[in-house]
Amino acid sequence: MRGFLTTKAARRTLRPIADLIDQRIERRIRRSIRDPDGELQRELAALRRRQEPLELLFNATGRGVSRLPADVHLKRGIDELALMTGDSDDAERNIAQAFRLLIALEALGVGRIAGGTMNICGKLAAVPLLDPPNDEILEIGTLYGMFGAALIRMMERAGRDPSLTIVDPLAGLQLQPGTTERGDPTGTPVRGPAVRTNLALAGTAGTAARIQQGFSEDPEVRALLSDRSYGVIIIDGDHSAPGVLADLAWAEQIIAPGGIVVLDDFGHPKWPGIKEAYDKHMATDTRLTYLGQVANSGYLRASTESRAASV
Ligand SMILES: C[S@@+](CC[C@H](N)C(=O)[O-])C[C@H]1O[C@@H](n2cnc3c(N)ncnc32)[C@H](O)[C@@H]1O
Repeated sequence: MRGFLTTKAARRTLRPIADLIDQRIERRIRRSIRDPDGELQRELAALRRRQEPLELLFNATGRGVSRLPADVHLKRGIDELALMTGDSDDAERNIAQAFRLLIALEALGVGRIAGGTMNICGKLAAVPLLDPPNDEILEIGTLYGMFGAALIRMMERAGRDPSLTIVDPLAGLQLQPGTTERGDPTGTPVRGPAVRTNLALAGTAGTAARIQQGFSEDPEVRALLSDRSYGVIIIDGDHSAPGVLADLAWAEQIIAPGGIVVLDDFGHPKWPGIKEAYDKHMATDTRLTYLGQVANSGYLRASTESRAASV
């Protein structure tokens, strides 16, 4: 009998009966979880109603992207940071603190921080952990200045005294060669006063930040901002290959020995010019060494030899 039941012919004959049994079982299960008095349904609806306003804290409305990273992205971000810095406890702590800061600043500030949640948290967490050689930070491309404000906070949390310099055209909207200029999802124009308001959220260091309106490739802007060696340079302005190449060449001259260069949107499929410029730059006689990547940012460190010694 057992032998017969396992034959192909028996299986074909018995299939309609097996299907019928399956359907009955399914119906029983549905009936048993059906909620005769509608109590479960009401509870579910009440939970949904309660959750919707909470989701406003994290969802994409009014900023273009959701701030709730998938579990797998969160874990990957922590792992990438731990791999680069060699400390998984610090990586997890800094990412958690950066995440809370991002939510708080976007709730309270004007505009938003650009980019995906893990990329932002990665940058905020990584820079202090990479222990830059001095507290001078240059951000090329700031949009609303909110990332700069957040980075000041993260550096202060690490016991540092950050001094921020920003360069951005502050042109009313985000300028990006090769892309269509659209209004920002926040509805807020990109203007100096918005940047100042956001920086003020970061206290004294934020208020003291230097804001240079203009383009990073402009010789006058360069002359004004090349007055010091920066411990950290964030390259997040013109995302085209020639633009990034020009910023890398400038960074090469003004980064302090041992300083950190962050290349935003590194390897991002939407911005192939960044990796293209990186590859070109790294083929030159550079002081920069690749440290690693966290989400969509690449991290480089300048050699500890001073520029004069290495030339
Ligand atoms: C992606 S946003 C910067 C986002 C910001 N770093 C953040 O994390 O929120 C790019 C900014 O760079 C500006 N920008 C474009 N070309 C630039 C250039 N040549 N020099 C400086 N800023 C530039 C854009 O107008 C925009 O405000």
